[in-house]
Amino acid sequence: MMQWVPENRIDHTLIIGGTGMLADAAAHLSKRSKNLTSVAGTKRSLSKIDLRIAKDCTHHSLQLNWNKPDEFLNRLRLHLGELMPPTLVLAWFHDNTLGPRTAELIERSSAPCRFFQVLGSATADPRADASKTLEAYRAPAHVVFHRVVLGFVETRSGSRWLTDSEISSGVLESIESGDEYSVVGCVEPWSSRP
Ligand SMILES: NC(=O)c1ccc[n+]([C@@H]2O[C@H](COP(=O)([O-])OP(=O)(O)OC[C@H]3O[C@@H](n4cnc5c(N)ncnc54)[C@H](OP(=O)(O)O)[C@@H]3O)[C@@H](O)[C@H]2O)c1
Repeated sequence: MMQWVPENRIDHTLIIGGTGMLADAAAHLSKRSKNLTSVAGTKRSLSKIDLRIAKDCTHHSLQLNWNKPDEFLNRLRLHLGELMPPTLVLAWFHDNTLGPRTAELIERSSAPCRFFQVLGSATADPRADASKTLEAYRAPAHVVFHRVVLGFVETRSGSRWLTDSEISSGVLESIESGDEYSVVGCVEPWSSRP
């Protein structure tokens, strides 16, 4: 796994949906953060990730269900209001539109917030609706919005989906690069996908 080391420790990192395929990335980011909020759907996955959080990082676990978007956003807003605004956000949702809606909740802080939304392979489908790929999304001025698309890996015998480890590692590389759009693996030619 590549080791991304920011110049200073991050005051507050917010990770949504980071207890599954992004768990390695979450564990790594906890070493670089003074506070880390993990949002997931179950207590079970939150307890599991808690064991992997760096000892000197204060971990805030938040069990929320994104299938009830208004309640999800309201409770997240209340939580963020009690802490300093995050300056790094890593988010995975099943509904892509929740990324922009979450970005709108981030209060201005002394440093701009870097918001990385991980998007499924379907957003790279040339036929995908631009509103679903978030291509045209304009974030608030104090939020720098980044899209990280999960692709696939070409092999001698065809292609396969990324492993969790490749996803976490690739997402950390995207955070390090700071590119506004990046792909983990590849998405072209689209016809080669598994
Ligand atoms: N392109 C590729 O190569 C590739 C590779 C692997 C996976 N994927 C895609 O990535 C997706 C993610 O897979 P995954 O196995 O990690 O499962 P997942 O069910 O999407 O869970 C990922 C994260 O989201 C959270 N989550 C799930 N439902 C939630 C809800 N209703 N409210 C709040 N948080 C929720 C999970 O926490 P809880 O478990 O606590 O709810 C976990 O932290 C899959 O749909 C798969 O198609 C793509």
